[in-house]
Amino acid sequence: MSKLWGGRFTKETNKLVEEFTASISFDQKLAKEDIAGSMAHVQMLGECGIIPVEDAEKIKAGLLGIKKMVDNNEVEFLVEDEDIHMNIEKLLIEKIGPVGGKLHTGRSRNDQVATDMHLYLRTKTTELIKLLEDVQGSLLVQAKENVNTLIPGYTHLQRAQPVSFAHHLMAYFWMFERDKERLIDSLKRVNWLPLGSGALAGTTFPINRERVAEILGFETVYPNSMDAVSDRDFILEFLSIGSIIMTHISRLSEELVIWSSQEFQFVELDDSFCTGSSIMPQKKNPDVPELLRGKTGRTFGNLIGLLTVLKGLPLAYNKDLQEDKEGMFDTVETLEGSLMLLAPMIETMTVNKDIMRKAINNDFSNATDIADYLVRKGLPFREAHEVIGKIVLYAIQNQKFLLDLSFEEYQEFSSLFEEDIYEVLSPEHVVAVRNSFGGTSPEQVIKQIELGEGKLGK
Ligand code: ARG
Repeated sequence: MSKLWGGRFTKETNKLVEEFTASISFDQKLAKEDIAGSMAHVQMLGECGIIPVEDAEKIKAGLLGIKKMVDNNEVEFLVEDEDIHMNIEKLLIEKIGPVGGKLHTGRSRNDQVATDMHLYLRTKTTELIKLLEDVQGSLLVQAKENVNTLIPGYTHLQRAQPVSFAHHLMAYFWMFERDKERLIDSLKRVNWLPLGSGALAGTTFPINRERVAEILGFETVYPNSMDAVSDRDFILEFLSIGSIIMTHISRLSEELVIWSSQEFQFVELDDSFCTGSSIMPQKKNPDVPELLRGKTGRTFGNLIGLLTVLKGLPLAYNKDLQEDKEGMFDTVETLEGSLMLLAPMIETMTVNKDIMRKAINNDFSNATDIADYLVRKGLPFREAHEVIGKIVLYAIQNQKFLLDLSFEEYQEFSSLFEEDIYEVLSPEHVVAVRNSFGGTSPEQVIKQIELGEGKLGK
């Protein structure tokens, strides 16, 4: 059989053109969605009396047969047939005869492909939400075990104030929570149905778009046929959210790389999540978090790629739009792979609580607390800041930390100091008194973990 659109042509398509314009090598991933969309469309055509019900039934049976073949990898997709839509339609006509040619009544590949993409993203978005929850679950497991584990908190990657390690981990929990909300919210727009828009202007047949939406589980139909076939903002939104998710994954990965370095040794990733060096026998490399960090680049690229494809396009459909697919598939697959690895990697990592705790002994991250101490004794904060700055300088010059200074030394800087200063300076105290909502005290962190468990329905 020749091309489905061959009637108007007097020459064969140039082979290079055929290959260049074909999308079947990648859009075969949409086979199931394409068949689902066709099943709903033909059901409606029968119900509306646009084609005889018997024909609709024959087409549906044929499509189901093709679906089985697809599931069993029995279909050989052909470049000559350009894309998934024409491959399946041609196969249908081959299987059930000319009646299969009625499937495309009142429809165009333009509204068909947009529908396939909506269906695909709906499924994938729902799956990704679950994978995000797995990562959140693994963060919760570690957080629960580390409420009282103290770690230096940093700003500018300089020791700032000690925090609960659980608090640090839970920061990522909430980032992923918002990512999840973003995905859930995007489903509202993924659930608009383009089908029934025809090539761009609608159709002359008395179709029932709401019925198709109902069969396919869409919440509403696009009210403008030109918009429906030519915008891809629902994909842009997905790629944006995907980029934000990867950014969050990348930041966490960066911390895992730092924490597992010889210099830090705060955590040790499980052997099963690390790799070795082909030359240096001693090495245990954090390849997984490094690659998670690295893969962020491609997701940004996919977003910028599609933004660029869309920005100058006149309405309505243009072949440029075929470029919407590979980046979307790539971001979906990158997210799936990344989230699937991240969850068990976090859950199995060893937290070196002692090393974290020792690190805090050797820093000035309790300096804010003696400043606050003097403020409570009546000194204005700016003056207190100045006094403590002098004490820190004195300690550095004498190779001591704040807990090592004698009471007499403190008194030389201010007569407001009393014996209780040492209790105020202990890291446990420093953390415990940051008891404002959302703060790092064990009490608040436990509250936060409970809130997090609630979000996961635990
Ligand atoms: N393969 C095409 C795409 O992905 C399907 C739509 C083609 N429509 C057309 N009029 N050439 O965009």
